[in-house]
Amino acid sequence: MARDKKIIIGNWKMNLGVHEASLFVHKLEKKVKAHRSVEIVLAPTTLALQTLSLQVNYRQFKLAAQNFYWRDHGAFTGEVSATQLRGVVQYGLVGHSERRHVFHETDKDTRAKVQAAIRNHIRPVLCVGETASERAIGETNDIIHDQLIGGLANITSEELPEIVIAYEPVWAIGTGKNASAADVKQAVKAIRTQLKHLYGAKAAQEVQVLYGGSVTNDSAADYLALDDVDGLLVGGASLDAEAFAGIVEKAFISSKESK
Ligand code: 13P
Repeated sequence: MARDKKIIIGNWKMNLGVHEASLFVHKLEKKVKAHRSVEIVLAPTTLALQTLSLQVNYRQFKLAAQNFYWRDHGAFTGEVSATQLRGVVQYGLVGHSERRHVFHETDKDTRAKVQAAIRNHIRPVLCVGETASERAIGETNDIIHDQLIGGLANITSEELPEIVIAYEPVWAIGTGKNASAADVKQAVKAIRTQLKHLYGAKAAQEVQVLYGGSVTNDSAADYLALDDVDGLLVGGASLDAEAFAGIVEKAFISSKESK
């Protein structure tokens, strides 16, 4: 997807049951305006994906899995594979800080999931970001470097444009302490520099890179104004229809379509 399109992803995390999710989408359908230049993606609980896939108009909303297992099928009790999600979702989050830190997923898991998503025609959204203590000792760029190398190890330059990278500093997630636009600019620059080393300048410029971490309707425009930022990964504010609609409008305003 070309970089002139912004991506706004609402990650609902472990909130809203199937019925509630469906009602919330009804509300969003009325409030959130579709724009050609903004890809709006909803990431509900896995349980609601099937229902929502029948409910949403894909011209208005795309769907994302919050998580999936990297094997396609087999004896993996309790898991859902990218193969099973194929055709239901268009995106899949990979390496989210909660997966890395609460469920101890490693770069090896992340890499396998990125590949599984690509193999099943799902766009992986590879999340990277440092913790507060890593940031305090100046390791932000090293962490980004390691997580990108770890997550993309088996990805070819032909596959790279299918991948979305999200910079989500752990200390900014769910804390209300959002990163400053200057912080994000610097981190996204580090991401593109690393991609350039791995895949060359052209490929690095074509990848869509998002920011996530305590984004609100008030702070969204500051990030979207950054040239190198192609959208937002929104947690808490995506559960507020008014705020989410506002964030989508900010993405539209920052896009070329509105100019
Ligand atoms: P918050 O917007 O609630 O900080 O969550 C960010 C996030 O983790 C999105 O994936």
